[in-house]
Amino acid sequence: MKEITLSIFGFGNVGRATARVLIEKERFFREKYRLSFKVLSVADTSGLVWLPEGIDLREALLVKETFGRLSAWTNDYEVYSMKPGEAIKEVSPDIVIDVTNDTNAHPWHLRAIRNGSALVTSNKPPLAFHYSELVGEAEKRGTPYLFEATVMAGTPVIGLLRENLLGDRVESIEAVLNATTTFMLSRMEGGKSFEEALREAQSLGIAERDPSGDVLGMDAGYKATILHCVAFHPITFEEAKVMGIEGVTPELVERANSRGRTIRLVARIEKGSVTVEPREISLKSPLAVSSNENVALIKTDLLGELLIKGAGAGPRETASGVVGDIVKASLALRGA
Ligand SMILES: NC(=O)c1ccc[n+]([C@@H]2O[C@H](COP(=O)([O-])OP(=O)(O)OC[C@H]3O[C@@H](n4cnc5c(N)ncnc54)[C@H](OP(=O)(O)O)[C@@H]3O)[C@@H](O)[C@H]2O)c1
Repeated sequence: MKEITLSIFGFGNVGRATARVLIEKERFFREKYRLSFKVLSVADTSGLVWLPEGIDLREALLVKETFGRLSAWTNDYEVYSMKPGEAIKEVSPDIVIDVTNDTNAHPWHLRAIRNGSALVTSNKPPLAFHYSELVGEAEKRGTPYLFEATVMAGTPVIGLLRENLLGDRVESIEAVLNATTTFMLSRMEGGKSFEEALREAQSLGIAERDPSGDVLGMDAGYKATILHCVAFHPITFEEAKVMGIEGVTPELVERANSRGRTIRLVARIEKGSVTVEPREISLKSPLAVSSNENVALIKTDLLGELLIKGAGAGPRETASGVVGDIVKASLALRGA
């Protein structure tokens, strides 16, 4: 049995879902992989709770869900006000897990890699802006740096491109990568206005409280940039051409529908080019997904067309990607 130590940064929807999966599947990980996990620290913006003997995740969940902040924790636990970079150096876990929405996490990702910790993340901006530096540094040091959950939640499009298809030359990827806009466009097909569709998405917890990242196409743009980096070569988000759905009216949706077509926020990724824009597509197109599904149609020289489709959002669905990467990093560390 190999014990792997973890530090979890971020205890929101994805962080808590990841903690729940680690609790539920403890036995499964022992039996299937001969791995056990010890969580050394958990952090939100209120503070970092650190216990070298290992934290009780059930208690962490109870504290966060009861008081809304980890700093309310008392008992045997110390709460520190360390920033992530400092904490990584002090706690020095085998794996750092970034499930925060910290758009400036890039320096502490670098700190983790240089500290010799593996890093697993669902946080997009560090990769969309600094892919080359982060992945380059991790490769130089032979440290696992894994980010399956940044694109299509747990649906394994990153693994497919990064670990399979290694003899194929990818020619293009067309993808629908943002579930909030898909939900809103589907509702507009049913006669709702843009504002009504947005309010409904917010009330169901599908859209963020600040939905601008989804509506203006930035979230899809980050994901498309990451796909380009993996399938072709590193670029940054500034090189992507991104248009959101803010100009899509119910009339445009209705007109498309009357011709057997629909509108989706589609990303097109080719070597050296990333475009995200609302596009009219046939209702029979594989890109015409609904609800929280994401889809990517990958064309390669050897395989032809490959379609990967599945959940693109949701805490548990995203935890699938995060936990899969934790296991992958652990197996790599055990083999090292
Ligand atoms: N939800 C999804 O379906 C989904 C899917 C794919 C990817 N993602 C990505 O996964 C990440 C987490 O998503 P979420 O839905 O769990 O967001 P969330 O519910 O807003 O949680 C974010 C968490 O990060 C914490 N945080 C922010 N900055 C921090 C820092 N510097 N140090 C420690 N903790 C920090 C927040 O603390 P407080 O609790 O104190 O505010 C919060 O606990 C985001 O980057 C998101 O884009 C989410």
